[in-house]
Amino acid sequence: MYLSVRNATKTFGMFTALDKVSIDIERGEFVCLLGPSGCGKTTLLRLIAGLSDLDGGEIMVEGEALSSLPARKRGFGIVFQSYSLFPNMTVAENIGYGLKIRGTPMAEVTRRVSDLLDLVKLPRAADAFPGQLSGGQQQRIALARAIAVDPRVLLLDEPLSALDAKVRAELRGEIRHVQRSLGIPTLMVTHDQEEALALADRIICMNHGVVVQVGTPEDLYHRPATRFVADFMGISNLVPTEVVRRGCHKLLATRPVGSDAAYIACIRPEQIGLIPAEDGEATVCNISFLGNLRRLEVDSPLGMLVVETHGGNPFREGDRVRLSIEPEACTWVADDIAGPSA
Ligand SMILES: Nc1ncnc2c1ncn2[C@@H]1O[C@H](COP(=O)(O)OP(=O)(O)OP(=O)(O)O)[C@@H](O)[C@H]1O
Ligand SMILES: [Mg+2]
Repeated sequence: MYLSVRNATKTFGMFTALDKVSIDIERGEFVCLLGPSGCGKTTLLRLIAGLSDLDGGEIMVEGEALSSLPARKRGFGIVFQSYSLFPNMTVAENIGYGLKIRGTPMAEVTRRVSDLLDLVKLPRAADAFPGQLSGGQQQRIALARAIAVDPRVLLLDEPLSALDAKVRAELRGEIRHVQRSLGIPTLMVTHDQEEALALADRIICMNHGVVVQVGTPEDLYHRPATRFVADFMGISNLVPTEVVRRGCHKLLATRPVGSDAAYIACIRPEQIGLIPAEDGEATVCNISFLGNLRRLEVDSPLGMLVVETHGGNPFREGDRVRLSIEPEACTWVADDIAGPSA
C-alpha cells in the first residue's frame, strides 16, 4: 500500500465530519472519492494534504506516518475546485513556482515548464496571465503546477466541477492521460458518479463521514452493497421485496437469506426488456428521447420502472407491454434506509 489512511476521525465542535475512515491507495493508482455534498470528502483530502489536523487515526506514505510533517514537506501536488493560480504571475511563473523556491536552476525550470505546457496541451500559454485564460485552461495550468515538483501523491478536489460539460469531459480524459503517463498515485474528489466511473481504477463511496463501499467502477455499478450506493451510482429501479414477491417471482430466486425488510431489489434501467403485448402487465407512460437512448417510464406490478432502450423504439405512450427481466439482472442490496442524502 502506498498511501494509507487508518481510522481518520475529524470533528468540528459536536459534529463528526469523519468517523474512523480508512482508505488505501496503491502505487500508480487512480482513486476517486465519491459521495454527496457534505459527506466529508474535502475534509479527508485536507487531512491527507496536511492542511488540517486529525483528531484520531493516522496517515502513512510507504509505512511512514505523516502526522508531524507539515503540508509543504509532504511532497503532494494539490488542485482545488476553484482556480487557485497566482493572478499576478504569468502561466510560466505559476508552473515554475514550486521548482524555483526549491532552488532549481532557471534553465531547468524553463525547460520543465515548457515540457509541462506541452503535456497539458497549452504549448503557447507561457506568457499569458491566468485572467486571460478560460476556466478549463486555468485548470490545466493548475494541474501542470501540481505535477511540476514530481509529487508523491496527487490530490484533486473537484477540479472539473466549475467547467461546462464538454470541457469537463475533455479535461477528464487529459487528467487520466497525464496521471497514467506519470504513474502518480492520485486521489480525486468528485460528487459526479459518471466522472468517477469514467476515471477511477477504484472508487471509494462515502456518506455521512463514513466509507460505505470500496471497489472498481464495475463493482459499484453492478454490485452495489447498499441502497445508498445503488441510488448514488446512477438511475436504478429499487423495488422492495414484498413488491417483487407480488409482481415477479422469478427474481426472488437470487435473494440472499434474510428478512424482507433487510433487502431491496436493484434493477438497472438497461437490464429491463419490454415486449409489446396487448395483454401485457405493464403500460408505457412516458418516453424521453436522450439522443443515444430512450428513457421510458413504465407502470408495472413492480411499481413505476425506468427503462432505457438503445436503437429503434417501437413503443408509444399508452402501449401495453410485458416485462422481461432475467434474475441475474437483479442485484439484492442491503436496505440502509437512509437512502440518498444528496
Ligand atoms: N471548518 C469547518 N467547521 C465546521 N464544520 C465544517 C468545517 N469544514 C467542514 N465542515 C462540515 O463538515 C461536513 C463535511 O464537509 P466537507 O467540506 O468535507 O464536505 P464535502 O463532502 O467536501 O462536500 P461538497 O461536495 O459540498 O464539497 C459538512 O457538514 C461541513 O459543514
Ligand atoms: Mg468538498
